[in-house]
Amino acid sequence: MAFARLSALLVLALGAVQINAAITKRVTCASGHVTANAACCALFPVVDKLQSDLFDGAECGEEAHSALRISFHDAIGFSIHGGKGGGADGSILAFNSTELQFHANGGIDDIVAGQFPVFKEIGFLTAGDFLHLAAAVGTANCPGAPRLEFKFGRPPPKAAAPDLTVPEPTDTVTAILERFADAGFAPEEAIALLSSHTIAAADVVDVTIPGTPFDSTAGTFDTQVFLEVLLKGTAFPGNGSQAGEVLSPLAGEMRLQSDFRLSQDPRTACFWQAMVNDQERMMSQFKAAMAKLQVLGQDTRKLIDCSDVVPVPAPFAGPIKFPASFSNADLQLACPQLRFPNIATVAGPAPTVAPVPGS
Ligand code: HEM
Ligand SMILES: *[C@@H]1O[C@H](CO)[C@@H](O)[C@H](O)[C@H]1NC(C)=O
Ligand SMILES: *[C@@H]1O[C@H](CO)[C@@H](O)[C@H](O)[C@H]1NC(C)=O
Repeated sequence: MAFARLSALLVLALGAVQINAAITKRVTCASGHVTANAACCALFPVVDKLQSDLFDGAECGEEAHSALRISFHDAIGFSIHGGKGGGADGSILAFNSTELQFHANGGIDDIVAGQFPVFKEIGFLTAGDFLHLAAAVGTANCPGAPRLEFKFGRPPPKAAAPDLTVPEPTDTVTAILERFADAGFAPEEAIALLSSHTIAAADVVDVTIPGTPFDSTAGTFDTQVFLEVLLKGTAFPGNGSQAGEVLSPLAGEMRLQSDFRLSQDPRTACFWQAMVNDQERMMSQFKAAMAKLQVLGQDTRKLIDCSDVVPVPAPFAGPIKFPASFSNADLQLACPQLRFPNIATVAGPAPTVAPVPGS
């Protein structure tokens, strides 16, 4: 009893010390930026360089999308049970000749080629810090995105991650959820991470139509993808049916089999549906899940919180809408217990979705 009280007091006291430390450590860098820790000052010029050399001047384009995708493919090479890779360590960059051979990393070669020279020029960052900072900065270029955290100080990666850690669109829901669970993520967190597919396009699922987006607003971090994956599919956007692809509702749009199955499976359908038109839910859940993903396998006690170097994303102007000629009648809902939100309809013929340039 007495001991329990003492340790409770100790926890309170330690909490106070940490809060104090956070306050006293705030510094103004030579550049004029204010940050939580002097060590973060070195990162502001890096952010500027990423924006100019990698992201075409702070765009939410293909490089920003791919910077987010590669952070997932890097980090997920990890198991809470051990025996896999080092997690969010940049191994996919440093050991690219190994990891780019893996089937699931198809299309990642472009962003590795884009990032590697910038990584070398910056010089002082480890591959893990570089790659996960780039993901946070690239995502921040997309209106509607949450401001992701950035923790600084990952050691250099020790080895390549093994093959078969990255989920494939051809995988069953059971296999996908088992892989996420093995990396430490619950089904709800897996769906939260898939918010990323709101700023996504495919180059290699159907090689005849590179840059084919997963929703009609690939330059905006909105909940449109959660809506559009629920619409009845009618056609394939390219050269017929490809592995990992199912019928999509719009010309020029690609639907992954995995996204669709997750939207319909009793284990995940309600998490999927709950995202539709709930920008706040998506932002907060995605931010929390990314914060976990981006330090997977790292000793977080040794990392410095440099989240304040990440640019503040523009807000989502909203609201989301049904694509023209679609309405509630076209929905395939698998979570009947959740009331579907009222989504505005748009008049006119169904649009053709334009590819993401640069693919
Ligand atoms: C079930 C899990 C997942 C599967 C099966 C999956 C599959 C895919 C596939 C097949 C592509 C298209 C690749 C191409 O053809 O170029 C893609 C793109 C993408 N994925 Fe995923 N993904 C999953 C989860 C995630 C997660 C957790 C993230 C990030 C947190 C993510 C971020 C992205 C992004 C941003 C793109 C677009 C890249 C670009 O446009 O350049 N994905 N994903
Ligand atoms: C892969 O990494 C090596 C260093 O290990 C580097 O020289 C090479 O340029 C990288 N490949 C690409 C495509 O960037
Ligand atoms: C289109 O698909 C067919 C098989 O369905 C294949 O034989 C053909 O090579 C594909 N065309 C291209 C340009 O990839």
